[in-house]
Amino acid sequence: MKTSEIRQKFLDFFASKGHQVVASSSLVPGNDPTLLFTNAGMNQFKDVFLGFDKRPYKRATTSQKCVRAGGKHNDLENVGYTARHHTFFEMLGNFSFGDYFKRDAIHFAWEFLTSPAWLGLPKDKLMVTVYASDDEAFDIWAAEIGVPVERIVRIGDNKGAPYASDNFWQMGDTGPCGPCTEIFYDHGDHIWGGPPGSPEEDGDRFIEIWNCVFMQFNRDESGTMNPLPKPSVDTGMGLERISAVMQHVHANYEIDLFASLLRAAARETGVEFGMDIPSLKVIADHIRACSFLIADGVMPSNDGRGYVLRRIIRRAIRHGYKLGQKGLFFYRLVADLVAEMGDAFPELRARQTLIEDTLRQEEQRFAETLEHGMALLDEALAGGKTRLDGATLFKLYDTFGFPVDLTADICREREVEADVDGFEREMNAQRERARAASSFKMTGNVEYSGEDTVFHGYERTSIDAKVLALYKGSEPVQSLARGDEGIVVLDHSVFYAEGGGQAGDIGEISASAGIDALFDVVDTQKIQAAVFGHKGRLAQGALKVGDSVAATIDLHRRQASARNHSATHLLHAALRHVLGNHVAQKGSLVNAERTRFDFAHDEAVTAGQLAEIERMVNHVVAANYDVSATLMPYDDAIRSGAMALFGEKYGDEVRVLRMGDFSTELCGGTHVRRTGDIGLFKIVAESGVAAGVRRIEAVTGEGAIARIQAQDALLRQAAELLKAQQGDEVLARIQGLQDTVKSLDKELARLKGQLASHAGDSLAESAVEVSGIRVLAAEIDGADAGALRETLDKLKDKLQPCAVVLASRAGGKVSLVAGVSADATSRIKAGELVNSVAQQVGGKGGGRADMAQAGGTQPENLTQALAGVAAWVAARL
Ligand code: SER
Repeated sequence: MKTSEIRQKFLDFFASKGHQVVASSSLVPGNDPTLLFTNAGMNQFKDVFLGFDKRPYKRATTSQKCVRAGGKHNDLENVGYTARHHTFFEMLGNFSFGDYFKRDAIHFAWEFLTSPAWLGLPKDKLMVTVYASDDEAFDIWAAEIGVPVERIVRIGDNKGAPYASDNFWQMGDTGPCGPCTEIFYDHGDHIWGGPPGSPEEDGDRFIEIWNCVFMQFNRDESGTMNPLPKPSVDTGMGLERISAVMQHVHANYEIDLFASLLRAAARETGVEFGMDIPSLKVIADHIRACSFLIADGVMPSNDGRGYVLRRIIRRAIRHGYKLGQKGLFFYRLVADLVAEMGDAFPELRARQTLIEDTLRQEEQRFAETLEHGMALLDEALAGGKTRLDGATLFKLYDTFGFPVDLTADICREREVEADVDGFEREMNAQRERARAASSFKMTGNVEYSGEDTVFHGYERTSIDAKVLALYKGSEPVQSLARGDEGIVVLDHSVFYAEGGGQAGDIGEISASAGIDALFDVVDTQKIQAAVFGHKGRLAQGALKVGDSVAATIDLHRRQASARNHSATHLLHAALRHVLGNHVAQKGSLVNAERTRFDFAHDEAVTAGQLAEIERMVNHVVAANYDVSATLMPYDDAIRSGAMALFGEKYGDEVRVLRMGDFSTELCGGTHVRRTGDIGLFKIVAESGVAAGVRRIEAVTGEGAIARIQAQDALLRQAAELLKAQQGDEVLARIQGLQDTVKSLDKELARLKGQLASHAGDSLAESAVEVSGIRVLAAEIDGADAGALRETLDKLKDKLQPCAVVLASRAGGKVSLVAGVSADATSRIKAGELVNSVAQQVGGKGGGRADMAQAGGTQPENLTQALAGVAAWVAARL
């Protein structure tokens, strides 16, 4: 039975049992920053299990794309060396949301696996496990299904802590979880291994094929198991594993789906195919993970999800290298994958070019350092060393782009120990250096130890404060004099310090005690996490540490920044509505002038989509929703649906910014009070900034009005120039002009041709005869290359036997053509002739014996060069 048939049968079976067939969700979990990649079928239903989300159905079935690399469930290191580990795989699942529980779940699983109408597996090949204390499940298996008790194994907390068990499943450190019962298939006694729970359980004989989780708890950060509102069921079966069973092969890599990928890997690496080559399996596995990840919007990068992708790609490339393939090869496997899986997953086909381009670029980038890195590694291990030191691991990582697991992989092959702890030490030292360097940059080397700044800028625009520290340039000082540039640190401030993409506030700090002092603040930056540096110049008076001052922001600018920042949130939400949930923020910059928002999306946003996004944002602006900011624990925020940036560090308590029901994001920035304050939202540009990343720039409020007025003025001026009465006549006028230009062009070409042929007629008379051949060299004013050729043809006919060179000059350049009539080519070659002239005018050329062309850059030498043609011909005859 083919893999695709098994997938279909599974879905059909559960559909026949009242389950809704639901599509696989993206590999990038929507709104769940606790999860790196989708790693199980239940992920997309997490909130349904937790009772936060409701669906119109209580039973569902899916075939879910999963990646287990880099997160809690990480299989990367094992891939290629075991019979069934993958980075990417498909998980078949059936789910009950507070509907059926243990009994039905077990009966369904057994029926599907053993009934001849479905998979028809022999019952005596199956074993089951239950969580040690789960008598209910045990009894169902024994009494109702009839599994002999010696083939039901109880597994307790065998991983060293309460609930840490092979038979207690949890998605991550927090979230829904519960005891499970698993079904194992016995591949036969010719394979080493023992039943689950035995000392030999890690062998390959008894393989888990089905995991049925009884979701009962929500584990919180403190480790407490909170009962779920309704006990539910989450089952999972690896499609590749069950296919291996059904196809009577032992390893997943032997199933039909992998056959063509493995052969493609052999073809592209130039090795003879063999099932015993782990590197081929690595490559065949990794091309799936990489392609599916890119299709779902992940791009290689140096952190977060992007770095996991980069590690997988580099691991594949290194295995290709190991097989002797030093050139680019990995991206060529995409076409094979699309052929194999493109029907079941149309996103692969739709994004094939993006996937290929992305992989090829990564290969090119890594190819530059792979070879040198390998040489360094060989050198470090020379002389039979058994341990690779942390410093070399770090150098390979830092200078040659070798992810540490990649180097560890090589060490494992060579049976060398990799000093990963030493690597971590080097890594921490570098982080320290980077931190020192970045705080240096951020603060202009300002050293400060003292009180924090209390921020009041969300609710007020001015505040009385005390000067805690002063810097002239970056030197600590006790006072600033008029004209000094420096930094002021205050105990209280209303100035927003640059962060979260929003620029720092500007404004003024004034003191009235003693001499009036006025400090113009041109920027506000964090000196430390909660210490704000107000940068600027003392315009008036003098300022001392300890002075009482009033700090006031430039309200006009602040309001403009707030409008742009709030509009950015609306833009983000609208993008997800219009383009899809794969749109994730990749960067943003907000200041008083505009907002710039970068996001993951792999093609240009069309004019129609931009118009729709703009319309949607302005609709929310006009709806004038309340904008509220609430402080709450991080978990509650995520639960309430707030968008958080993956890989970003948030404190325990976060600020959740809501705009009606349209947008909820974690954000520390300053915002408008109601969406109506934004006034107007106008997109001004859309562009690509990197593979898979687009950028939208937009303006709001007065900026948007100014923009529209400027465009209006432009249109008016254009209408005036075109003598159009109204804006909408402009297009018709432009079209008319274009038509006129086109017909004039044609007319001009015709006239030039005529002119040239007339010129040709008169030129013929100036030909000179050299040993029976007529020689002509002349310049034709204003002729382009086409006209030169045309005239040349006519002259050749007229003068034969002949050798002709024609030239023209325009814009500092010379065009040349030379022709020799057929009856003279045995004696003179047009190519050589044109070259002899071209060389004298700083050019080069060539062509056939009867016709050749050239160009030059020294028109000043043309006349003389042409004058020499007759002599050149004479010398050849
Ligand atoms: N969530 C369980 C697993 O991933 C069953 O679907 O194994």
